This record gives sequence, C-alpha cells and structure tokens, in this order.
Amino acid sequence: MKVRKAVFPVAGLGTRFLPATKANPKEMLNVVDKPLIQYAAEEAVAAGIKELIFVTGRAKRSIEDHFDKAYELEAELEKKNKQDMLDIVRNILPTGVSCIYIRQAEPLGLGHAVLCAKPAIGNEPFAVLLADDLIDGGTRGCLGQMVDIYGHYNTGVIAVQPVPRSDTDKYGIVEVRPIDQRVGKIQSIVEKPKPEVAPSTLGVVGRYILPPDILGILEQTNRGAGGEIQLTDGIATLLERQQVVAYEFEGKRYDCGSKLGYLEATVEYALRHPELHLQFGEYLKSRMESL
Ligand code: UTP
Repeated sequence: MKVRKAVFPVAGLGTRFLPATKANPKEMLNVVDKPLIQYAAEEAVAAGIKELIFVTGRAKRSIEDHFDKAYELEAELEKKNKQDMLDIVRNILPTGVSCIYIRQAEPLGLGHAVLCAKPAIGNEPFAVLLADDLIDGGTRGCLGQMVDIYGHYNTGVIAVQPVPRSDTDKYGIVEVRPIDQRVGKIQSIVEKPKPEVAPSTLGVVGRYILPPDILGILEQTNRGAGGEIQLTDGIATLLERQQVVAYEFEGKRYDCGSKLGYLEATVEYALRHPELHLQFGEYLKSRMESL
C-alpha cells in the first residue's frame, strides 16, 4: 500500500527555544527564508505524500495561515506586478496536495499527538515528520529514501543516525540486527536511556513510516518518560507484533529544536542559497578572519 498521508505533530511547547516560541510555534522558525514546517512539507510532497495532517496546539494559527491562500497579500503583489513574489506565495504547496488540521488540546506527548491524527489516517500506513529535525537528504530527501525502503520491506521504517554515547539520553535509541546496507531489524527501542545503559548509540530522528496498527497500540499506551505518552513506547509494543526496520538515512540532520542546531542549519542553508551564497560566504570569511 502506498504512503499517501503524513502527520506533522506541531503542538509541542518548544521550551528549549523560549522566548522565541512563546507566541509562535517553533515549527514556524525560519531558516534563511522558509519556516521549518515548509521544509518538512516539501520533503513529504517530494516523497509522494498527498495529504498533510497537522496536529496543532495553542498559538498554531500561523501554521494554518502559512499554508492557506493569502488573498490580500496576493492582490497587493499583483497590483505591484511582483510576479516572482506572487509565484512564491502561491506555490507553497502544489495542487493536488491537501491539508487537514487537528487540535491536540493538551501537549500530552508525541505518541498522543500522533494518536490525535487517527480519524484522518484511517487504515493505511502513514509518515510522521518532526519539522524541527531539518534534514538535508539530497535529491530524494530523507522521507523519499524511507518510502523506497518501505516499498522493499513493507514494514514500518524509522530513521536513525549514530549519536555520541554521551547524548543517548536525548534520543529514542534502537538496538538493531543489520539486514542490509543502512537497514537493520529493530530488536528493541527505548526512550532517552542514560549513556551507561543505552543498548546502542543509534538514535531515532524525526522521520517515521508506521503501519496503522500503531494507533490502536497508542490508545492503550500509558504515560512514560516525562509523564508523556511516548511514540517510542508504542513502537516498542508494535515490535512485539511485527517487524520494524531502522534506516540510517543518507544526508545531514540539523536539530533545529536546539539553538545551536538551528544556527548551524541557518549558516549551511545560507551558504547554498542561490541569491545569498556569495555575499554570505564573503561575510563569513571576513568574520572568521577577525576572530
Ligand atoms: P519535543 O520533544 O521537541 O518537545 O517534541 P517540544 O515541546 O516541541 O520542545 P521542547 O523540548 O520543550 O523544546 C517533538 C515533536 O513532537 C511535537 C513537537 O511539536 C515536536 O514537533 N509534540 C510534542 C506534539 O505535537 N505534542 C506534544 O504533546 C509533544
């Protein structure tokens, strides 16, 4: 079955980025000239996703507005004959792609946010993208690569990357049995284990392809680490019933939920921006020389 739907949980509090995220969702933070949520939506669309399901919380209106038609702005740009800008505003999503918004009344955790999307998912496999993990996955994109892996194994796929052992308590960590280049059958998964007890140093990043069975499991999943309903705990139960594979994606991930990761992404994306890369590169060089 094709993966046609993607869930974007955007209802977290974003405490690591306060005060920027006090009245604005962190997924609307900009990297150069696009909000994080748009990078994630573009990655999903490039992977063949046709339905974008946003699970929103408080202060999330700007996300809906971003993907909605902006009549006044378009009329103004038209009047001023600014065709380039008009194209940018109009083509945020291609035709044939639709958006659904579902409210998560309380931020009870990522697992709960995914469960909130159940009425829109139905009985088919779906992707989950955490937009604060900005992933430069080359032309195919990280989710595109995962869709290929899903097509091959026909099981859930979770994106992973090696992390420093000292950081295992910031990630879901998987233990795998390698079955192919970059692909391993997940033996166990645990949320944020301390470095001394982590079963490996393969960390889960914010891209998943999951079977619909996970939704029934999440309904039965109790609060776990941090008092939240953890997607990781749901996946641990899923593993008892069916195979899920971990995929070491090709590309680079920036943790834009943290200030340092966000700054790294900003520099990297500016250095390859068609209008900015030369001037910004010059600026960086001169700045480094003066350090
Ligand atoms: P994070 O673990 O990054 O939490 O959530 P957070 O609240 O957004 O940020 P910090 O840690 O306080 O700075 C991972 C993803 O899950 C979503 C977030 O929006 C983010 O995309 N999420 C988390 C929800 O949608 N609902 C929740 O209840 C929790």
